[in-house]
Amino acid sequence: MKLTSDELRKKWIKFYTDRGHTPISSASLIPENDPTVLFTTAGMHPLVPYLLGQPHPAGKRLCDTQKCVRTGDIDEVGDSSHCTFFEMLGNWSLGDYFKTEMVQWSYEFLTQVLGFDPERLAVTVFEGDSDCPRDDETAALWEKCGIKRENIFYLGKKHNWWGPAGQTGPCGPDTEMFFDTGKPKCCDKCSPACDCGKYVEIWNDVFMQFNKNADGTYSPLKQKNVDTGMGLERTLMNIQGLQSVYDTDVFTPIVGKIEKLSGKSITDPEHVKAVRVVADHIRTATFIIGDERGVTPSNVDQGYILRRLLRRAIRFGAGLGLKFGDYSAVADAVVDIYAATYPELAAARDKIKTEIDEEQTRFERTLENGIKEFEKLCKFLQTDVIPGKSAFRLYDTYGFPLEMTVEMAKERGFKVDVDGFNERFEQHRKLSQAGAEQRFKGGLADTGELTARLHTATHLMHKALKDVLDDPNVNQRGSNITPERLRFDFSFGRALTPEELKAVEDKVNAAIAADVPITCEEMTVDEAKAAGAVGLFATKYGEKVKVYTMGEFSKEICGGPHAARTGELGHFKIVKEQSSSAGVRRIKAVLDADTSRNTASN
Ligand code: ALA
Repeated sequence: MKLTSDELRKKWIKFYTDRGHTPISSASLIPENDPTVLFTTAGMHPLVPYLLGQPHPAGKRLCDTQKCVRTGDIDEVGDSSHCTFFEMLGNWSLGDYFKTEMVQWSYEFLTQVLGFDPERLAVTVFEGDSDCPRDDETAALWEKCGIKRENIFYLGKKHNWWGPAGQTGPCGPDTEMFFDTGKPKCCDKCSPACDCGKYVEIWNDVFMQFNKNADGTYSPLKQKNVDTGMGLERTLMNIQGLQSVYDTDVFTPIVGKIEKLSGKSITDPEHVKAVRVVADHIRTATFIIGDERGVTPSNVDQGYILRRLLRRAIRFGAGLGLKFGDYSAVADAVVDIYAATYPELAAARDKIKTEIDEEQTRFERTLENGIKEFEKLCKFLQTDVIPGKSAFRLYDTYGFPLEMTVEMAKERGFKVDVDGFNERFEQHRKLSQAGAEQRFKGGLADTGELTARLHTATHLMHKALKDVLDDPNVNQRGSNITPERLRFDFSFGRALTPEELKAVEDKVNAAIAADVPITCEEMTVDEAKAAGAVGLFATKYGEKVKVYTMGEFSKEICGGPHAARTGELGHFKIVKEQSSSAGVRRIKAVLDADTSRNTASN
């Protein structure tokens, strides 16, 4: 079936709207106030509080197209279907319908809307274990729809359990749908679990009914939910019978641009991988920089992932002969494709291009230093083997990927101790993982009160900044909260004076001293605007949002959570004010328990 990406998005939303679902906007790629993951990796991620039982303002049946980034398989990028960015088509039941409706609708959508031949569909269901029984119910529902018994496979947790997105949270057994390519079975046991290529995954329906706890155990959730996810790019590839996702309409203009700039073709086996890597990584980088809470390349968190993506693209692109400015030109093509669906990209076009060009300049400078270091190393080498330790230093300090060191060494008749490199790499990975787990634990102990208080303080500070700086262009550009501090980025062209910082602190502390209750109302975006609320208005027409009001002090669109009264916050103090990027300032602030210094007088 010939279907464009836009038609697929529209068919998805229509199918679910016809079945009582409310379409919601894609959330930001950068999760707000969630220290456990760097990016939104699935449609359910922004919905976690609602899967746990909080009522969603748009109701119990939702659907959307969500921007997602997953970098776990970055080394696989270059094959026909792995991408670091993708769009996930999703629908949810928040304690409403369950297996019967979901299996029926999945079958209808696949066979009637997408035109899959039922004979060529295979499904998997959970085989059961001590945490959750075997899902015979779902298997029977599939069979009733028309899936042949021999195409229904029972698999264990490794394959048929989804979530949580971070270390804890909602999860459950799932049922996955596959397209049978018609290739012969690879062996007697051939099933969708093997990677022989006979079965291609299309869609995943998760029956989210458990919460995974920090100690690894599962407890039943208050409500039974459905969470589904279908990858837009792979589905387009499957229904059109294309060879790779790079042949779909969300990629062809990007690939075309790379081919034009480099003079190399994606059909050339020597260059196919490099063209795909550049296309994928620049697309992801464009979405990360151009996100409504976009970040720029750095050495930490999302900024570091972005840096790696850009440097990896530049390295592969160098082999294609791409030059300075070519990567930002590729980003231009990405923005053109998505501008209508994700207007935030069009709004950030210049910023995206500048950041990519600047990172290219920085990387090329680092590379020069790395090459000098490499020459020095070769000069003093006693044997013909470059030690793993040195190769790792080139990687860690100068951003030299191992394969580059190996290639350069080969040119000089040297070898590299690859095992030694891998050992160090592994040590390093374990250390950073331990760090991440630590950070996660820190977040866990306090998810709830401390972060809710800092989040509430962020709203008060946002309003205080607008008042003190008396500039209508002062707007939130980013927010990040750990249990220790809040960090807030906002648009403003210069450093704040000490007097201004003091005035902001005083205003926030006055709001705390007033101890007003924090109330929440649900309304449409237009009503929120009319009520004078601030916040991101990038939501669909008519969509309901939550507006939090703190007396006279603040009115803002937000998902929460918040303290119940401002008086719970303690004493507010700004610890740092600095530049974040051109035209954006960054403030870090803390709350301490001592409220004796707060006064309501100003
Ligand atoms: N959350 C599920 C997934 O990502 C639907 O596959």
